Amino acid sequence: MGEAFLEVMGLNKQFGGLKAVNDVNFSVAREEILGLIGPNGAGKTTLVRLITGILKADSGSILFKKREITGKKTWDIVNRGIACTFQNMRPFRRLPIIANVMVSCLSPRAMKRGEWVKRIEAKAMDALEFAGISDMALEDASTLSQGDLKRLEVARAIATEPELLILDEPFGGLSPAETELMAKSIHRLHKGGRFGRLHSEGPAMIIIEHKLQQLMKIADRIIVLNFGTIIADGTPVEIVNNSKVIEAYLGEGEI
Ligand SMILES: Nc1ncnc2c1ncn2[C@@H]1O[C@H](COP(=O)(O)OP(=O)(O)O)[C@@H](O)[C@H]1O
Ligand SMILES: [Mg+2]
Repeated sequence: MGEAFLEVMGLNKQFGGLKAVNDVNFSVAREEILGLIGPNGAGKTTLVRLITGILKADSGSILFKKREITGKKTWDIVNRGIACTFQNMRPFRRLPIIANVMVSCLSPRAMKRGEWVKRIEAKAMDALEFAGISDMALEDASTLSQGDLKRLEVARAIATEPELLILDEPFGGLSPAETELMAKSIHRLHKGGRFGRLHSEGPAMIIIEHKLQQLMKIADRIIVLNFGTIIADGTPVEIVNNSKVIEAYLGEGEI
């Protein structure tokens, strides 16, 4: 693996007396898909909110491409090339699906590629096509099923042409068939290339999941969070066989 692309050092976030993120250290390489798993309430979503500037860390440091992003505003972080999807999806429900993605195409980062300035609809359409929901482009976002909402989240995130894409539970609520499709899309995106008018440099990725199974096939490396602390860091095979990980998941049934 190459040098650190994203580097998280000594990160802490407390809610009242609860240490939701407790001295977390890890890094992601440019070419990597990093999986992040952990039982419910482990602190995964909080960690994503800290990286994307939605929440402010109590202490610690986050470097992206060797620059400090701790304490920066979310729009600034998006412009530097980090995009994320949310576990709790919040589209503009009263707007057509395509308009939801056009908002992302209007980000200064996406607009920098001058050729797209006059072709935002076309680019938004390509993002929807990539995500597999282009046939519903003109319907209100409120009409979407759980699985299609996930796809809209992915379309919105990739429309900003990120270099690091963070996906919070991209398989949550999806059927096995939808999960398979989503995993394929994620893999294709990571490899990069041109999807219609949409350009993908093949972003580095952090994929958060509650369960390990779906992640095994696509992650290069997996870190495990439990009670705000990283308890394991290794290849998918090392992680499924790690006794601390098995113990952390004992109360939950399967990993
Ligand atoms: N805004 C908040 N205020 C208070 N407690 C919170 C807040 N957000 C998360 N928590 C708590 O922090 C812990 C970690 O939550 P979260 O990061 O959502 O976990 P995960 O995504 O791993 O399921 C949980 O105990 C949760 O109840
Ligand atoms: Mg979560």
